[in-house]
Amino acid sequence: MGKRCLVPIKPAWVVQRLLRWYDAHARDLPWRAAPGARAGPYRVWLSEIMLQQTTIKAVTPYYARFLARWPDIEALGAAHLDDVLKAWAGLGYYARARNLHACARIIASSHGGRFPDSEHQRLTLPGIGPYTAAAIAAIAFDRRAVVVDGNVERVLARLFAVENPLPRAKKELRAHAERLAPEHRPGDFAQAMMDLGATICTARAPSCGRCPFAPRCAGLKMGLQDALPAKAYRKPKPVRRGAAFVAMRADDAILLRKRPVEGLLGGMTEVPGSPWRDNKSEADPDPLSHAPLSGAWVPVPGVVRHTFSHFHLELAVFRARVGDDIKPERCWWTPVNELGAQALPSVMRKIVAHALENSPGSRNQKMG
Ligand code: ADE
Repeated sequence: MGKRCLVPIKPAWVVQRLLRWYDAHARDLPWRAAPGARAGPYRVWLSEIMLQQTTIKAVTPYYARFLARWPDIEALGAAHLDDVLKAWAGLGYYARARNLHACARIIASSHGGRFPDSEHQRLTLPGIGPYTAAAIAAIAFDRRAVVVDGNVERVLARLFAVENPLPRAKKELRAHAERLAPEHRPGDFAQAMMDLGATICTARAPSCGRCPFAPRCAGLKMGLQDALPAKAYRKPKPVRRGAAFVAMRADDAILLRKRPVEGLLGGMTEVPGSPWRDNKSEADPDPLSHAPLSGAWVPVPGVVRHTFSHFHLELAVFRARVGDDIKPERCWWTPVNELGAQALPSVMRKIVAHALENSPGSRNQKMG
């Protein structure tokens, strides 16, 4: 079917169809207020920061723990950064946790503990970009705002049959979002678009039969619902390689250290390791030269793989049993069943689990 058959898509029609659908199908999420009520900015901000690059399933327990421990922005601003990083460990993209904490400090100290009322002012705060500023404006302050994330881009690309590939299409999609953003119930509209993208207008196999936009969706009429949004070719991520060292004492404590505050996984805890070399560099001729202590290092069979936003990582793991009297500089020992209380990112937990699973006599040690 060609474009000539398309019915014009009026903003009022889109808004009305979507809000009616949302009233019946909104997801019950812990950061949402009851219908007709408004969630406070702290909850909205915290959830929106956590949800960037992460799934609702992964975020839900973290959100609950943060809220129980730091019930308002002043409490979070008064927390130690290390405690915030520990509570964030496993959620990924750790710059978000550092910015969250920095932002809470500024709001507590310079804004009397209240989120600034203007979107423009909020944009100056650490970790708050256009998406988060707009989401807070719409959801917490009931202001008209243009809230566009990846889910919303997908919905718009299909609804308006935008064939231009992402990321080039971003401007065009935003222009559609600007035309649609309503004055009335802006927060519900924004969250309804997200819910529609997450549950019906999904990346793969969209459920067009249940979609409130189906009668006028240009992408569906043109049979493009599976092909949109088009994506420009992206170079595959490079692979970096390195070695990690799991030293274990007789009392099952593991040797840890802190990563530099600047850079990837900044300020988080790690097991000692070598620098990670990209695949353009030669293989490290002597990985054991990076071991934190001299010992009987044994290579653990296999590798640990982990993917970051801009590269894949492959780590060879070495393990050693060491005596009770050793403590390399800037390192500390933590019992393996208490690792859960450390600021240990997922990749580091994978390394320890890999070493334990593949070590004779380590079968009954459980990571905490
Ligand atoms: N993804 C990011 N923010 C969200 C929200 N408020 N509701 C549903 N999904 C989201």
